[in-house]
Amino acid sequence: MSNNQIVDRLKNFVLRPRVDLWMWSSLKLGDGENIFRFMLSKCNFIHNALEIGTFLGMSSALIAEYADMVHTLDMHYYDNEFRNVLWEYLGVNKKIVFHPFSANKQKMKIIKDNGPYDFVFIDGSHLAEAVALDFSLVYDVPKILMHDYGLDWADITEFVDKVATDGYNGNKYDLCVKVPFALLTRRMNDGN
Ligand SMILES: C[S@@+](CC[C@H](N)C(=O)[O-])C[C@H]1O[C@@H](n2cnc3c(N)ncnc32)[C@H](O)[C@@H]1O
Repeated sequence: MSNNQIVDRLKNFVLRPRVDLWMWSSLKLGDGENIFRFMLSKCNFIHNALEIGTFLGMSSALIAEYADMVHTLDMHYYDNEFRNVLWEYLGVNKKIVFHPFSANKQKMKIIKDNGPYDFVFIDGSHLAEAVALDFSLVYDVPKILMHDYGLDWADITEFVDKVATDGYNGNKYDLCVKVPFALLTRRMNDGN
């Protein structure tokens, strides 16, 4: 497909029926994207990234600019074609693998099979139980970026604050906040 064809298709997707979905992506342009990029730039060199919660693939595309490879997973497909066209248009399609799943067992296997990771972006379900499950699967990853911290999602904010204060499973973390993102950096060789 030529670049022009890709752009045409992307315009069709953006401007026609998918506009409602597209509008939901808080990272598409402006401040959301800028703060996300700021947090990504604090992660140095990312070799293998994991994303929990793909949606339309906007954050996956941004992560791919800072990483060699991105594994992203979601329990809904939304619009595969839109996502593929977007990733192709942005020139990151070869770096991203989308993994759909329907059950937690499957999700755990995908995460295990494609690791280890040096960065994870947690942006799936924002409810306490799911946030706790997602974190339990990736707590050893050196850089853990949480979305929607410090906004109306109390479960996320409370969970992050607790992990930053108490640690998790023997790990301790440094917290860097730029609302709506919270970056947890695992401390190395720190028994305190
Ligand atoms: C806020 S959206 C992700 C937005 C995307 N990261 C972006 O910024 O472009 C949350 C996504 O998580 C998915 N999701 C919901 N529950 C999930 C779960 N338990 N595990 C993984 N993904 C989940 C939803 O289907 C939805 O696509």
